[in-house]
Amino acid sequence: METVVSGIRSTGKLHLGNYYGAIQNFVKMQHEYNCYFFIADLHSLTTHPTPADLHGNVKQVLVEYLAAGIDPEKATIYIQSDVPEIAELYLYMNMNAYLGELERSTSFKDKVRAHPDNVNAGLLTYPVLMAADILIHKATKVPVGKDQEQHLEMARTFGNRFNRLYNVDYFPEPYAFNFSANLVKIPGLDGKGKMGKSEGEANAVYLSDPPEVIRKKVMRAVTDGGPTTENQEKPAEIQNLFDLLKVVSSAETLQHFDALYNKCQIRYGDLKKQLAEDMVIAAAPIRERIEAIANDAPYLRKVANLGAEKAHQSALKTIKEVREIVGFRKF
Ligand code: TYM
Repeated sequence: METVVSGIRSTGKLHLGNYYGAIQNFVKMQHEYNCYFFIADLHSLTTHPTPADLHGNVKQVLVEYLAAGIDPEKATIYIQSDVPEIAELYLYMNMNAYLGELERSTSFKDKVRAHPDNVNAGLLTYPVLMAADILIHKATKVPVGKDQEQHLEMARTFGNRFNRLYNVDYFPEPYAFNFSANLVKIPGLDGKGKMGKSEGEANAVYLSDPPEVIRKKVMRAVTDGGPTTENQEKPAEIQNLFDLLKVVSSAETLQHFDALYNKCQIRYGDLKKQLAEDMVIAAAPIRERIEAIANDAPYLRKVANLGAEKAHQSALKTIKEVREIVGFRKF
């Protein structure tokens, strides 16, 4: 059976981008593959969270994984820092990751632009740690959103380079995966780019947002003055709203608003109301489970311990073999 690995940074609440880009696939894949889903708390250290925030955020993601439908009996759910072999593999992989290629990574360049005061080495080698996350279980499929595609390419580069350096056929090639043919990029509500946490509170709809918060955010989404000629192309901020409808609403709803737009009869208020209601319907069952699971400390402890144990076993097997390949041998 093929092995699947994916993770989400522990930087707080999850949004619909995380859900439709990644978690929805996790939930489906757990029935068909050998799955490892983790909470990337080591990655989150690049932004220097306080110890209390770090712990709270790890718990939040764990709770939301479970609330979204990941079954700890089917998939292995674990916290990255519970598996120290990942950090060890990261160290080995760092030896054949080159400065030039790391500096060329789009996400690194974005981070440098956004936070010029905190360009730390962890940020530069972020894709190496990500490769270690994947290679440690020798995974071949990685369910992620479109924004992670370049990181997957780097994971393949690092794995292949290791194989070549030591003349082995050890690490398989991991590929980004989505059940639909294409990787997805869920847009945000600000009319610009993707839905994301760092793009501001109002840009993202969180799985834990109550209905009234979702409605308020959607009604405030950026729109324009409306189409003036029939069948005209949609500007980015309007296309974003249609892309969101495509994800949460029915095909008929999408067609309905598309036809109105093409006839210049669209009322954005109606579209937003429908979009908000369909988002409420999508998020409500998850939000209810979030509230229930968050208060169940013994269950969370049990899940985290079980996952740590299972992930550790798999990682230890790999790291023992890697040490042998590299030449760390017992006397
Ligand atoms: P992160 O925490 O930023 O996002 C988690 C997952 O959600 C997806 N995602 C989106 N998909 C579509 N549209 C969006 N607007 C959107 N926003 C987020 C991301 O593509 C991702 O799949 N580096 C990773 C975490 C990570 C990882 C790994 C993933 C660490 N190690 C190993 C896979 C394998 C990250 O920061 O994702």
